[in-house]
Amino acid sequence: MKRTQIENIEIELLLEGIFRRHGYDFKHYARASLKRRLEAIVSRQNLNHISEILPRVLYDHDFMNDFVKGMSVTVTEMFRDPFVYRAIRKLVIPFLKTFPFIKVWHAGCATGEEVYSMAILLKEEGFYDRTQIYATDFNRSSLRIAQEGIYSIKDMKQFTQNYYKAGGKTSFSNYLYSKYESAKIQDSLKKNILFSHHNLVADGVFGEMNLIICRNVLIYFDMDLQNRVLSLFHNSLCHGGILCLGSKESIRFSSVWPKFEVIAEKEKIFKKKYENFGMVNGTEKQVEI
Ligand SMILES: C[S@@+](CC[C@H](N)C(=O)[O-])C[C@H]1O[C@@H](n2cnc3c(N)ncnc32)[C@H](O)[C@@H]1O
Repeated sequence: MKRTQIENIEIELLLEGIFRRHGYDFKHYARASLKRRLEAIVSRQNLNHISEILPRVLYDHDFMNDFVKGMSVTVTEMFRDPFVYRAIRKLVIPFLKTFPFIKVWHAGCATGEEVYSMAILLKEEGFYDRTQIYATDFNRSSLRIAQEGIYSIKDMKQFTQNYYKAGGKTSFSNYLYSKYESAKIQDSLKKNILFSHHNLVADGVFGEMNLIICRNVLIYFDMDLQNRVLSLFHNSLCHGGILCLGSKESIRFSSVWPKFEVIAEKEKIFKKKYENFGMVNGTEKQVEI
């Protein structure tokens, strides 16, 4: 048997063990990047084989927490892909403003930069006070950083450039307290944000969302899991709700594709469809497909 075939057996046994012991299901993560991350853990922990991870995740809780951290790619930035925020400002916010109150879900929010970018945008559009933002991730240490909202001053140059490219209306520094090497997000931006643990593979729907932003997360899942998570999003959106994905992601090949219309192709912004089914009591009723 070739070494890669043996490694595949090791990976399958490990993922099954993690699922049965902790309920974390990595079986449908895209295999090539999953393997790279497992190999990185093997080398960091001075192990010889992937199978040596198994007893550690079964018996050692701290190791398991580090394992989840190692499995999650947390790369993010404020106003990442600024053109997407421009499109949200132009095409999505005017529609959302027709509601008295909206709910936004950032799924896979990592260390929170994306969430605070949205809070800034909503504030500038005069809509933040009518919004509840839910921000979730399955990586607890990322969530702790997100909650604190303290970032390195070194990143601020890039974030500031992104902010202006995204159509920022004032000075980016207005949203931060800077001290020594760090910049802290203003408390006024935090008040309508709830950070919580949620695993997209195992946990349930978030009801009646007007906007779901899940960017650069599906890319780590295989097609089967992407399908399941996109169904979860479809079920979590209210009628006419908006879904925004990452630039390398799509719903085109998924089972929910016929249930969405495109708002902005390049920016990966979609809207859950309504379906007319005639007049009821003199008014036109709409239901989702
Ligand atoms: C590359 S980051 C994306 C951050 C942000 N959305 C952005 O685009 O900048 C991917 C995030 O997805 C999270 N993630 C991966 N699998 C997940 C799962 N099953 N449930 C919830 N979050 C998950 C990771 O922990 C990580 O924080």
